[in-house]
Amino acid sequence: MIEDTLLVQLAKDYGTPLYVYDGDEVVARYNSFLKAFKSRYKKTKVMYAVKANSSLALLRLLAKQGCGADVVSGGELFIARKAGIKSEDIIFTSSSKTVQELELALEEDVIVTHGNVSELLTFSSIAEERGKTARICFRVNPDVSSKTHPKIATGLKNSKFGLHLEGDIALKAYEKALELNGVKPIGVHAHIGSQIHESQAFEEAVSKLMDFAVMLKKELGVELDFIDLGGGLGISHQGEKTLTPKEFAEAILPNFLNGLEDLSNEPYLYLEPGRYIVGPAGVLLTKVNSVKKTPYKNFVNVDAGFNTLARPTLYDAYHHMTVLGKSGNEELVDVAGNVCESGDILGRDRSLPKTSVGDIISIKDCGAYGFAMASEYNSQPLPCEVLVRGGIGELIRTRRSYSDLIAEQKIPEALK
Ligand SMILES: Cc1ncc(COP(=O)(O)O)c(C=O)c1O
Repeated sequence: MIEDTLLVQLAKDYGTPLYVYDGDEVVARYNSFLKAFKSRYKKTKVMYAVKANSSLALLRLLAKQGCGADVVSGGELFIARKAGIKSEDIIFTSSSKTVQELELALEEDVIVTHGNVSELLTFSSIAEERGKTARICFRVNPDVSSKTHPKIATGLKNSKFGLHLEGDIALKAYEKALELNGVKPIGVHAHIGSQIHESQAFEEAVSKLMDFAVMLKKELGVELDFIDLGGGLGISHQGEKTLTPKEFAEAILPNFLNGLEDLSNEPYLYLEPGRYIVGPAGVLLTKVNSVKKTPYKNFVNVDAGFNTLARPTLYDAYHHMTVLGKSGNEELVDVAGNVCESGDILGRDRSLPKTSVGDIISIKDCGAYGFAMASEYNSQPLPCEVLVRGGIGELIRTRRSYSDLIAEQKIPEALK
């Protein structure tokens, strides 16, 4: 954990809003996750979900630990490779890829996950034209319901993700892939959602996936090199009970290991945690611009908003907050963002020590889906990021400037 005094200093040195990550915590969380599975099943690989936080320095830190990557765009693939993650440790999973993205995946020789046959056909013909056979897998839709926010539940049968197991839709996709020269199916993938605290839906999905792997072997003779169970392990924002990696592994591995008994080989187990690894390792520091009392509510107006941290507005997410250097003398306030929309409240009805202009509020558990989802809405430049290792903070991304806001724009000649 980063000391408050260091956070205050970093806010002074680099300004706010500022994302600060504890690199040592990221490494510790990666190791504890990997160990929970690897100690029970040796052929385990962690493919960190880059979408959670794609900052180059964080990826480099994870690459140095031997971590792989799950990427969902050409951009993430590019960054993961620049960070030093090996091609063979990257899987490209998104529901909609452009031809350019597929070409990049082929060039970089990463595994591509398809969620539909139409994309498979495009990819196979691109690979065939270049005389290559690409490694692919399919994402299947296991039709399980996980208790999470509807916007981040992805395993339901009406979801846009994956191929359904029902009606042999997924099986037929493998059959099709086997007929094509440009691709070789070597794995199967499922991801049921994010910020999940209970194991039941995971257990159900694993069981369905293993039955499917056995069917692939029996019906089509496909021996999988890997089975990818996706990400989704939740983190606690408000003291709610969540699974430790050990509990998570102990809950889902029995179904995985049972399924293996009916396979003739030992596939790799891929896992794609994002939030678990980086979420609790990051804070967002924001400064109090002004305070306001109304007959109905008290507002603390800060210099971050839903353009800096989207989760409260997007998912009604709770992020715990503290006022650095202050305690006691609490009052009930809404911590209001600086975006010009009434939905931009970063924390509702919070008991915080009485704040004054210039105070720094530390918003907890912002390492995942924080900066990664930030935008420049309202023309507020993207914030900067600091990585702390061994108690020393280093800038890993500079703050964008007002000139950056217009750097890629131009005024047509006729308007000059
Ligand atoms: C395919 C895939 N894998 C992994 C993840 C990571 O999920 P989480 O950050 O909840 O672990 C996601 C997130 O949506 C995803 O879509």
